Amino acid sequence: MPNVYIKTYGCQMNERDSEAVAAQLTAKGYHIVSTEHQADVVLLNTCSVRDQAEQKAIGKMRNLAVTLKRDRPNVVLGVMGCMAQNRGQSLVDQLPDVDLVLGTQKFHHAPDYVEALLKGSQRRIIDTESEPGSESTIREHLLHGVGDRAAVSAFVSIMQGCNQYCTFCIVPYTRGKERSRAIEDIVDECRQLVNRGVREITLLGQIVNSYGKREIGIRDGKSAFVQLLEAVHGIEGLHRIRFTSPHPKGYGDDLIEAYQRLPKLCPSAHIPIQSGSNQILKRMHRGYTRERFLELIEKLRHVNPLLGITTDIIVGFPGETEEDFQETLELAESVVFDNAFVFKYSQRSGTPASEMDGQVPKEIIEDRHARLLKRITELGHQTYEKLVGQEVEILVEGPSRRNASRLEGRTGCNKIVVFEGNLDRFKGQLIKVRIDRLGSFTLYGDPAIINLSPKEPLS
Ligand code: 5AD
Repeated sequence: MPNVYIKTYGCQMNERDSEAVAAQLTAKGYHIVSTEHQADVVLLNTCSVRDQAEQKAIGKMRNLAVTLKRDRPNVVLGVMGCMAQNRGQSLVDQLPDVDLVLGTQKFHHAPDYVEALLKGSQRRIIDTESEPGSESTIREHLLHGVGDRAAVSAFVSIMQGCNQYCTFCIVPYTRGKERSRAIEDIVDECRQLVNRGVREITLLGQIVNSYGKREIGIRDGKSAFVQLLEAVHGIEGLHRIRFTSPHPKGYGDDLIEAYQRLPKLCPSAHIPIQSGSNQILKRMHRGYTRERFLELIEKLRHVNPLLGITTDIIVGFPGETEEDFQETLELAESVVFDNAFVFKYSQRSGTPASEMDGQVPKEIIEDRHARLLKRITELGHQTYEKLVGQEVEILVEGPSRRNASRLEGRTGCNKIVVFEGNLDRFKGQLIKVRIDRLGSFTLYGDPAIINLSPKEPLS
C-alpha cells in the first residue's frame, strides 16, 4: 500500500486533525511515514493565523513540487486545513502541482480523495464547501508513537469554529461558525482513549467556554462546558483533564469553581489576553477589559494559588502606541505568567484589522516583540525557579525527548520534568518527584524519592 507523509503547521487543533486523517488512512491500509522521501502522498495540514505560517507551507509545497514531482510525477501533493479553506482555487493557481485542496470541514473525505487521485480516476480535487455535522466527523485517533512512546496524553476536539470575530483573526473565516459535539459523543471518544492507555485528555476548541451554548445550554447553574468537564471527569482510569483555549469573556464562576471541585482538572490555564491596553482590546473586539482580566486571574488564584497561567499576546496591533505597549508590559509584570506566546501582529486579508488606520511599522513591531519576550521569559523563569526543592506530582509520559535513557512527565501546571526511572513501572502513572535543578524551561527531578505507590502521599 502507498506511503503517506503528513506535515502539520499551527495549533493543537491542526495536530489533532492530522492525527485523525492519519488514522483514517491507516485503517485503509496506507503506511504513515516520517519523511517525504519515500512518500507516494504528501499532505500539508496548514495554518493561516499568521502570514509566516502560510509562507512556510507555500515554500514547502514549492520545494516538494520540484524535488518529488520531478522524479516521480505520480506523487500526490495535497494541502489541507485553514490555508486550503482560505485560499481554495487560488492555491492551485499559485501552485499548479497541487492535486488536492481539502478544506477544514472535509478531513474525513481525505481517504476517498487520495484513493481517487492515486488511481487517476480524478486529476485534481478541490473541496472547501461547508458540510453540516462535520464537527462530529473527526473521531479516529492514531495515537502518536508506538511502544515506549505510545501516547499517555491525547487531544479530543469538542467543537469547531468561532463566533467571536476578533478583528485580527482569520479563524472564523477558515473554521466557520461555532458548532459543538454532543456530550455523550465526546465522553464515548474519551472512554475509548482511556481503554487504549491514555491517562490525560486535553479538550480542544477555539473558545471552549462557549462550548454547547446553543445546543446544550445552562443546567443547574452550570454552563455546558462545565457539564462536559464533569462528564469526562467521571471516566474511570482517566487521571487528568486539560482544556484549551478558554476566552476571558464569559469565563464564568462555575468554571473557576470547577478547579476546586474536580480533582482531575489540572491546575493550569491558558487564557489569551492579547493586549494589556483597553483601547487596543476594544479595537480587537475582545469583549473584556484589562481590569476584568485581572479580576479573573485573581479569582482563579484565590481558588488555587499554584495555578499555572499562560497566555497569548499580540504586539503591534494597528493603533498600538508605546503607551499601549507599556500597559501590556505592566500587565505581564503584575500577573507573572508561567509562560506566554508573544506574536507579532500579522495583517490577514479579509479581517477588519487589516483595513484599520495606524498599521505599526515592522521595526517597531520587532522591537516590542523582543522587549516583551525578554521580560516574559525572565518572569516565566521565576515560576520555574520556585519549584526547585519542591515536591511535585507528575504524569509520566515516556522516555525523555532529549535523552531516551531518562523518563519525562509533566506537572499539573504543564511543566516538563525529566528524571531517571524504569519505564515499565512508571509510564502512565501519577507520581511524586522532588525537583532538584532547572534547565532553561525543563525541570529535573530527583529519582531517589520517587513515590513507589502512585497517588499515595509520601511519608
Ligand atoms: N497576528 C498575530 N497573531 C495572531 N493571532 C491570531 N491572529 C493573529 C494575527 N493576525 C494569535 C493570537 C491567538 C493565537 C492563536 O494566535 O494571539 O490567541
